[in-house]
Amino acid sequence: MDKLRIRGGFPLAGEVDVSGAKNAALPILCAALLTAEPLVLSNVPQLQDVATTLKLLRQLGVTAERDGERVTLQAAQPVSLEAPYDLVRTMRASILVLGPLLARFGQARVSLPGGCAIGQRPVDQHIKGLQAMGAEISIDHGYVVARARRLHGARIVTDMVTVTGTENLMMAAVLAEGTTVIENAAREPEVIDLALALQAMGARIRGAGTDRITIDGVDRLHGANHRVMADRIEAGTFLCALAVARGSIVLRRIDPSVMDATLDKLRECGVVIETGADWIRASMDRRPRAVHARTSPYPGFATDMQAQLMAVDCVAEGSAVITETIFENRFMHVLELQRLGAEITIEGSSAFVTGVPRLSGATVMATDLRASAGLVIAALVADGETVIDRIYHLDRGYEKMETRLGALGARIERFR
Ligand code: EPZ
Repeated sequence: MDKLRIRGGFPLAGEVDVSGAKNAALPILCAALLTAEPLVLSNVPQLQDVATTLKLLRQLGVTAERDGERVTLQAAQPVSLEAPYDLVRTMRASILVLGPLLARFGQARVSLPGGCAIGQRPVDQHIKGLQAMGAEISIDHGYVVARARRLHGARIVTDMVTVTGTENLMMAAVLAEGTTVIENAAREPEVIDLALALQAMGARIRGAGTDRITIDGVDRLHGANHRVMADRIEAGTFLCALAVARGSIVLRRIDPSVMDATLDKLRECGVVIETGADWIRASMDRRPRAVHARTSPYPGFATDMQAQLMAVDCVAEGSAVITETIFENRFMHVLELQRLGAEITIEGSSAFVTGVPRLSGATVMATDLRASAGLVIAALVADGETVIDRIYHLDRGYEKMETRLGALGARIERFR
């Protein structure tokens, strides 16, 4: 099992190209199921979760050829309509094949994802919306079994904002008979990117990026080319690394307008940030100031940035409260940060962080994707050496993180 060894205390300098967004790529890969024609995607990140999605799609009979950042998919003839447990349990986003399979083939058998480190993460809203569109759905031996002669349009109000719920329902609706309105829809930029890909394939979608998305179903979709948007969470992660390690970096191939909440927090910490159409220049020459944060759906502060900002607060001047409102158990990184000397107490969904001048290196364990990113950030400013175990969690969502941080001057290496 791979580990990372990091020596703290070295500033960052240089430029880094931000990768394609994991949380845009995953739904858009699944959208290939909606047509028999080729879907050609560029800027697809080289991540474990992308590899898992391609493996699942191939099992369904989709041809998928990867050439660097480009992926060409074609779902001419399905060979299976089942997403098996052994794959789904490794990646919850597998549920994103449910909507497209139902829309194109009228049936699907998708394993329930089961729990995960950060929370229960049920899929009841996905199911409720598909039933409103006429699907007959039962739960059978841990699988969602769904059938629909042809889905019909519906007005769906989700009980809470759900990103993949919105995406699943949008993909189901594009081939449904009539118009579907999704109220309380997720406004994340990744939802907009999926809508852009679907529109390129011939779908008729209005309102993506607002809390009301209207989809007029069409009889079929055609192939398309689409460039996946850049990963705002990866960009935010690099900026949090700079906030603690200090120095000056430039992030390229990123549209800063999709990460206002993160940039606001980092400016509040004291990071000096300039932005252009597709770049962010940031510098930090002092100890960060502590900043409060409360996660919320986009455009609020992203839950996927919570662990990374907490790592900054761990070494900041002052104290701060970080409240997690999206997932019920997304503080797994706290225990590990405490091993590095962080002063954090948890009360319910809030973590109270008192900054210390320096952390001290230790052996810690990654528990989930963004927690591991938080640990990497903390290790950059910990005295001595930190070893992070189980970094397969990191590899799910970050492309060659140690290589790219190393190129910026961090002392970081992967070993077994
Ligand atoms: C997406 O997960 C992201 N994953 C997550 O990123 C991200 O943290 C999350 O949205 C919130 O922004 C992908 O896009 C692949 P939700 P998703 O449905 O869609 C509850 C990462 O690190 N809920 O928006 O699964 C749910 O339990 C990952 O890249 C229901 O109760 O999250 C949670 O409390 C982690 N029933 C809240 O809603 C449902 O049917 C928001 O979840 C659906 C969701």
